[in-house]
Amino acid sequence: MQSVDKASSIKIHELHELAQLKPVEGLQREVWGDIGVIPAMEMVAVAAAGGCILGAFDNHEMVGFSYGFPGFEHGEVSLHSHMTAVVEKYRDSSVGHKLKLVQKARTLARGIHRITWTFDPLQSRNAHFNFHKLGVICDRYFVNFYGEDTVLFLEGVGTDRFWVTWRLDENPAVIPAKLDIEPLVAMKDSGEPVRSNKPFSGLYQLIEIPADVNELQKHHPDFIRPWREATRWAFVEALKAGYVVVGFQGPRERGHHAGAYVLHSPNTR
Ligand SMILES: CC(C)(COP(=O)(O)OP(=O)(O)OC[C@H]1O[C@@H](n2cnc3c(N)ncnc32)[C@H](O)[C@@H]1OP(=O)(O)O)[C@@H](O)C(=O)NCCC(=O)NCCS
Repeated sequence: MQSVDKASSIKIHELHELAQLKPVEGLQREVWGDIGVIPAMEMVAVAAAGGCILGAFDNHEMVGFSYGFPGFEHGEVSLHSHMTAVVEKYRDSSVGHKLKLVQKARTLARGIHRITWTFDPLQSRNAHFNFHKLGVICDRYFVNFYGEDTVLFLEGVGTDRFWVTWRLDENPAVIPAKLDIEPLVAMKDSGEPVRSNKPFSGLYQLIEIPADVNELQKHHPDFIRPWREATRWAFVEALKAGYVVVGFQGPRERGHHAGAYVLHSPNTR
């Protein structure tokens, strides 16, 4: 989890042409396997129609990319950032952050003020990156967004996703550094989740997730389904009760073996 700013030598370029977009097919395969690879020809059309496709380059080598197409939500045009990825050996060096900052600038230049994307709420790195470094919010949770049997990093637990919104011209929510409340889902010393019986009331709620679910899956594959079920229950019920996910306190910040999402109820004073 070291963050060395290797990103300073990385250049970000917007990609439009077939030859420029071909390597993005390879990067998709490297990160997610053969599932759902978007062909370069389709990306050419997306770029011409107002999408934003960026490549991150170390000299001439593409080491990351971001692929977004125009969307329409709440009566407003948005950019839906369907994929962002950095190859493994360049991760945790702020290359992803640099890609997102350029994506933000290019989106604002198009007169668009919000970017949406999805991610698996059990992934702590993505949670820290999206909520802590970028300042997104989440008010929608999709059960099995990409189907129940699709395997994307985690096996046998479906493909639940947060739908997050990055409001480009608003400041991120300020949340208290320490919240002394019992989490709706907490991690036991064994690494398994436990649900709370407390009511869904109060200004804030916490929902814990493992510090690294991919590592946990290697050592305790049987723990992953209980984590999916417990967190699915907590997020679905909390969002239904009017909470919005506004932050994430990573294991590092909490000095704890689990990270925790912070949920806020905008209607509670
Ligand atoms: C998500 C992704 C694009 C981020 O790119 P990146 O270059 O690694 O991002 P950054 O280096 O800017 O930020 C990563 C942060 O996560 C932190 N981190 C790493 N592992 C972590 C963990 N288990 N828990 C919490 N934080 C973690 C890093 O320390 C870093 O934070 P810092 O700069 O505050 O120290 C990249 O990790 C990736 O390609 N993941 C696989 C594909 C994916 O999930 N894409 C997103 C959904 S489409």
